[in-house]
Amino acid sequence: MSHRFPTALVAAGLGLAALAPAALAQNVTGNAAAGKEKNSMCIGCHGIVGYRTAYPEVYPVPMIGGQQAAYIISALKEYKSGARWHPSMRAIADSLSEQDMADLAAYFSQVKR
Ligand code: HEC
Repeated sequence: MSHRFPTALVAAGLGLAALAPAALAQNVTGNAAAGKEKNSMCIGCHGIVGYRTAYPEVYPVPMIGGQQAAYIISALKEYKSGARWHPSMRAIADSLSEQDMADLAAYFSQVKR
């Protein structure tokens, strides 16, 4: 049964090889389904067709549904860093991780206006 050891060794090697790319990846990938779970803190202000917003006339906010994902991410990063200033968005963006931003951007970019 000496052939079992090399097999286990190869399997372990493959396992490490499969993990390496994920560990090295710099860019987070947005997941629209996850973004949909996280958007409850956005849709009160960012009215989206198909959703009821409580006070669309009270909050003149830009529509982000259907916006390019890359644009949404860079806007959120700018609010977080302070490069763009708006009190509400600053507070919101500050609470978001890069993964949150990518997920939300993936979700909102797929929403039809
Ligand atoms: C309290 C209301 C409010 C909430 C909640 C809110 N936003 Fe905003 N958002 C605004 C306003 C107002 C602006 C415009 C700010 C400005 O003039 O820079 C804005 C701007 C933006 C922009 C830039 C849009 C553009 O066209 O440049 C993005 C992207 C954005 N919000 C995403 C989000 C996301 C994602 C969430 C949820 C995590 C969220 N917002 C929650 C009020 C809100």
